[in-house]
Amino acid sequence: MTDTRPWTARVLTLFPDMFPGPLGHSLAGRALADGIWTLEVVDIRAFARDKHRAVDDAPFGGGPGMVMRPDVLAAAIDSLAPPAGGRAARLCLTPRGVPLTQARVRALSGTGEVVLVCGRFEGVDQRVIEARGLEEVSVGDFVLSGGEIAAMAVIDACVRLLPGVVGDAAGLEEESFEAGLLEYPHYTRPQTWEGRTVPDVLLSGHHERIRAWRQAEAETLTRRRRPDLWRRARRDGGGD
Ligand SMILES: C[S@@+](CC[C@H](N)C(=O)[O-])C[C@H]1O[C@@H](n2cnc3c(N)ncnc32)[C@H](O)[C@@H]1O
Repeated sequence: MTDTRPWTARVLTLFPDMFPGPLGHSLAGRALADGIWTLEVVDIRAFARDKHRAVDDAPFGGGPGMVMRPDVLAAAIDSLAPPAGGRAARLCLTPRGVPLTQARVRALSGTGEVVLVCGRFEGVDQRVIEARGLEEVSVGDFVLSGGEIAAMAVIDACVRLLPGVVGDAAGLEEESFEAGLLEYPHYTRPQTWEGRTVPDVLLSGHHERIRAWRQAEAETLTRRRRPDLWRRARRDGGGD
């Protein structure tokens, strides 16, 4: 039997008012309004127990900044209802995590529920990551000031893969990373703009030549910009 429950994102954050934010607009926003996915936002601070409602403390061993306390975060995680389909991915956003890939996004969008823990300060006490089995995920080799924007990026990438979100789903298959390559360049009207014209082949109406040109462009771009992807595509048989 097909699972008809909406895909669910559960976000744990110290800044619940940031959500849905950009996720309430455009494709993701329409899909949210249409019930294709649902969003639950949990305020981590609501689980602080001391009189100052502290969610962070100084790092053992010294050093700059503060660390999110494991007891407060664990209480927030434990407050979540069990996943409706019995299956949930539990992510902790961190620059130290495994870099997110389109393949992982596709797998997450096929999981009924994704829990996203947003770090702040210097990050999260390591023990809660281990004790609650959180998968450490990074959205890139740079440092954001908090996990919220990273969580939004993960959710947006997943939501656009859900059935019924993108009008022409066939377009998704040609996108960057799907075939292990970056996507070919695009052109639209006007046909001549600031003296620049569109590659002739795209005006030829010859579908096979257009397909071959796009494939060649995708391969050249990937080889130049992302030698790591190119090597993998060749190894997996996608770029030859
Ligand atoms: C200022 S950062 C902490 C950086 C940490 N001290 C380090 O050097 O790895 C605060 C929070 O932002 C989030 N964050 C920052 N960069 C990120 C990235 N590239 N991917 C995912 N989350 C990120 C994480 O949740 C992190 O706990």
